[in-house]
Amino acid sequence: MRKKIVAGNWKMNKNLHECILLADDIRAGLEPLPKNQLPTVILAPAFPFLYAVSQTLGVNQSITTSAQNCSSEKSGAYTGEVSVDMIRSTGAKYVIIGHSERRSLFLETEDSIRKKLMVCLEAELAPILCIGEKSEERKEARHFEVVKKQIDSATGNLSPEILSKLVIAYEPVWAIGTGVHASPAQAQEMQAFIRQSFAQSKGMEFSQTLPILYGGSCNPGNAKELFSCKDVDGGLIGGASLNASDFLSIIKAAMDL
Ligand code: PGA
Repeated sequence: MRKKIVAGNWKMNKNLHECILLADDIRAGLEPLPKNQLPTVILAPAFPFLYAVSQTLGVNQSITTSAQNCSSEKSGAYTGEVSVDMIRSTGAKYVIIGHSERRSLFLETEDSIRKKLMVCLEAELAPILCIGEKSEERKEARHFEVVKKQIDSATGNLSPEILSKLVIAYEPVWAIGTGVHASPAQAQEMQAFIRQSFAQSKGMEFSQTLPILYGGSCNPGNAKELFSCKDVDGGLIGGASLNASDFLSIIKAAMDL
């Protein structure tokens, strides 16, 4: 049985004070809940606040932090970049890689996404690799092909052992921040396809333990339905993760499933 994961991608929102308050509210909200039923909860604030948020959460098995991006280089003269070693030193355990906003607004290529994945894995950080099709690609019935290509270019040739910390987030671009979420049937269909693709390339055991999250307009009203799908192992939450009570409701939706 795969453990559910609920991750909050705070994007470029909240200042230091607000990040600490939000993290503390979420931490306190989890306290009364039965530990053995909690999903793994991950908070992804902006780089400057990773350390403070990690400190606010303290040493806690059920809740941890993630960066939203990382440099594909390990260190050196790369003004403005943040390395995996820096990220790890803040206490973060995960890094979101290849988010559609990074692909489209910051022109991240498949090549740089693959490099980021590699440096993350070498640093023993768990990559949350985001994949998903655009609206026109789905309309043209190319969504499976597009997602397969994203998987292959990021993970092709890498062994299941090297990829053991990998987390996938299926985020259809048309669902991100739009209020239009994928239907449970659409999410299940694609996520079963993703798992099947990994079964073919990395083996059955790897694919059965791989966490595959859904992201895109997930909220307290639709989380339970989405998380109940067989191949949906939790969610990557944007907008609804910025409010402690909404995010806690989504976490509760991942319990008892
Ligand atoms: P959203 O964002 O929940 O606001 O749609 C999800 C994401 O971008 O990860």
